Formats: sequence, C-alpha cells, structure tokens
Amino acid sequence: MALDMIIGAQWGDEGKGSITDMLAAQADIVARYGGGDNAGHTITVGGEIYKLHLIPSGIIQPNTVCLIGNGVVINPATLLREMKALAERGLDVGAHRFKISRNAHLITPGHIALDKAKEASRGEDAIGTTLRGIGPAYTDKTSRTGLRAELFDAPEELADKIHEHIHAKNEILTKIYGAEPLDATAVAAQFADYGQRLQPHLVDGSLLLDAALRDDRTVLAEGAQGTFLDLDHGTYPFVTSSPPTAGGVLLGLGVGPNKVGRVIGVAKAFSSRVGSGPFPCELEGEAAVRLRGTGDKPWDEFGTTTGRPRRVGWLDLVMLRHAVRINGFTELVITKLDILSGIAKLPVCVAYDWQGKRSEHYPTDIRVLAQCKPIYEVLDGWDEDIMGVRKLDDLPANARRYVAFISAQTDTAVTHISVGPGREQMITRSQ
Ligand code: IMP
Repeated sequence: MALDMIIGAQWGDEGKGSITDMLAAQADIVARYGGGDNAGHTITVGGEIYKLHLIPSGIIQPNTVCLIGNGVVINPATLLREMKALAERGLDVGAHRFKISRNAHLITPGHIALDKAKEASRGEDAIGTTLRGIGPAYTDKTSRTGLRAELFDAPEELADKIHEHIHAKNEILTKIYGAEPLDATAVAAQFADYGQRLQPHLVDGSLLLDAALRDDRTVLAEGAQGTFLDLDHGTYPFVTSSPPTAGGVLLGLGVGPNKVGRVIGVAKAFSSRVGSGPFPCELEGEAAVRLRGTGDKPWDEFGTTTGRPRRVGWLDLVMLRHAVRINGFTELVITKLDILSGIAKLPVCVAYDWQGKRSEHYPTDIRVLAQCKPIYEVLDGWDEDIMGVRKLDDLPANARRYVAFISAQTDTAVTHISVGPGREQMITRSQ
C-alpha cells in the first residue's frame, strides 16, 4: 500500500482535520510530518469537538496508530497536556498506538521566549507568529544545535544539554533583547519529568513506516499549515519555518517518493490567513464578516491555536494553481462550501493584474505580490442551505458549477466537498 498525503493548499486552516479524520478511518498509521503546536485541528464527531495541536487527528479513530514524525518540533508541555485531555475523554494515547520519532526536535521555554522577544522587536514588521517557539526551534535544528527527542533516552545528557541550551538562550535574551533570563535548573527539572513520561513513545519513525508499507498497510501523512506558509514556496518571510508542502512529507517522515500514492490538496471554497503578509483577494468590512463569521460558532474563522480573527477573502485560483504545481496534487478537496450559500455573486480570482499586465502565475517575490490586483470572474451563487446535502447531484446547479470551475481552472479533480463541520457532512464524488 502507499503513503497518501493531505496537504494544505492555501495558508493553513483549510479544514484538513475532517478529511484527515475521514481517511484515517481506512488508514493503519496517521503521521504528522512537520510544524508543531502552531497547528490547530478542530474535529467534530457526533457533536463532540476535539481541538488538537500536535497529536495526529487519527487518534480519534479507535485502531489507528499515530506518529509524530522527525520533521515535527515538539513542545513536550503541550503534548502532555493534549495527551491528558484526550485520555480524560476516554481516548487511548498509550505507547502501543501513539509514537514519537526519536529524531524529532524539542521546543523549550528558551525557544518560546526568543520567539516572543524577536516578534516584539520587529514592531510593525512582525510576522504574526503563533509565539510557540517554532522559528527558533527550527533555527537551532538547521544550525545543528537543536535538542532531539532521543535525549529522553539519556537523562544525564538531557540535563547537560538543557543547561547549555538555556544559558545560550539567556545570553541572547538578556544582551540583545533586554528580556528576563530563564532558570536553567528549573527547565532541566521540567524536561527530566517530560522525558520520563514520553520516552516509552520513542521509535525510529522511518523504520516503523517502512515496515508498515512493506506489509501492505496504509499510511496517511497529515498536513499542518499550508503551501503558502512553506519556507521556500510560500509568502516569504511571512511563512512558518518548515516545509508543509509534499516535499516536506518525505523529509519529515523519512519515506522515499516511490512509496507515494495520493497527494490530496485541501482548499477552502474561499481564502483565509492569520498573521501578516500580502493577501491579494482580502476583503474588509461586512463582506469579510460574512465569510469569517462572528466567532460564536467553533468553525468560524478564528485561529484554533491563537483565537485571532482570520483575514478572509475570495477564492484565489492563481494561488491554487501554484499549490497544484508545487505539490503535484492528484486530487483536491474543497471545504466549507456551505459558507458561500446565500451570497448572490461569487467573485473568483483567475489571474493577477501587475502594473497593467495580466499574469496567470503566483510571483515568488512578495513585493510584486503586494502590488498584484485580483482579476475576478464572477460566478452566480445559490440560496439553498446545502449543509444536509450528501450527493453531488443534490447540490444546487450553481454550487456544482462553482466546484467544476475550480476543477477546470486547476486541471485537477475535486474528489470531496465539505458542507459543514461534521464528519458526515462530506460529499464524496464517485470518479
Ligand atoms: P509560526 O509558525 O508560529 O512561526 O508562525 C509563522 C506564520 O505561520 C504566522 O503567520 C502564523 O500565523 C502562521 N501559521 C503557523 N501555523 C499555522 C497554522 O496551523 N494555520 C494557519 N497559520 C499558521
């Protein structure tokens, strides 16, 4: 069997959790390959709402094995809190089914303090990070000074490394940012405790997945963030510090490209982003509130991790074509189509106008992107409530046209359409 991937096609928050949950029902292993607790997945099952940041959504399924891959950066405090909350709700998070790659990196209070200090010092140019220490943890990884989860196997070495690490961070915090230093001994004691509790979960993630794939079992790679937050292919520097794109799956799990099956891109029926950076199709005022919601429903456009209102706008097909190319999507899932019900006219961006010239391609330079104006094609909307629809043919004709338009413009089949937050509110197209 193959490694199937679920990848965010926009700026994250595409509603990947529910499609992951649906496909996890048929998967033997669900694995996270990148990011950290900056991610937030909301899954609704039978009226129960689960908000997950680090543990793969497959944990909601009774028999699925879940893996945090080597490409992830783990805040052990968040992870243990999440494990406890799930266990209290009767879910099994034991070491036989919840595993952590030994070579995943750890996030410490030093990374978090540095993320906060750096963002504060950027002032108006702040990236709008989630302040979870993600950037500093990946910086340590690439500068070869990171702390890997495998240190949980060696408590003494862990204590030494934490002391060294916190002292190094304190130098920067106090001397460059004028921030308070951290107590290295207290952090080392915390990490000794985390280590004891998480050590039984450690595995060689690549070996685990290889054995499963050789054994004809299915592995699902669960995306976090999205293509436009990719360090290389997103709106740099307003990106995260890891590759959420398809290439990142292979790196972040230790699996070769010959094992890949489906590459499933997930896109919302409109656009949203949190944090700073150019956003050509962004809407303001009432039109934005119409797409965002007011925050009274859990699926309104407010960050799962930060609670921040998301910036919203019309669907951008220039972006989506870029995402199809970068990731090699074999299919698309369109989420939240129900949110568009009742909007009479639906503008969809098909190209950009840059200095009077039409461009079909997403620019790599955000200074150019910031000057791009969307060229819209306006489609007719529909009035009907579609949240109860379960078959493509039962969608209003204009809703079907909207989906067909996306498919034609991206040259990619749309295989699933979500019409609400519930697990059952997913239309699966027969192909
Ligand atoms: P960081 O990943 O916390 O460093 O944040 C960098 C940028 O990525 C910020 O604009 C964040 O808002 C954004 N970001 C990170 N994770 C997510 C996510 O899961 N969904 C949406 N945006 C995210």
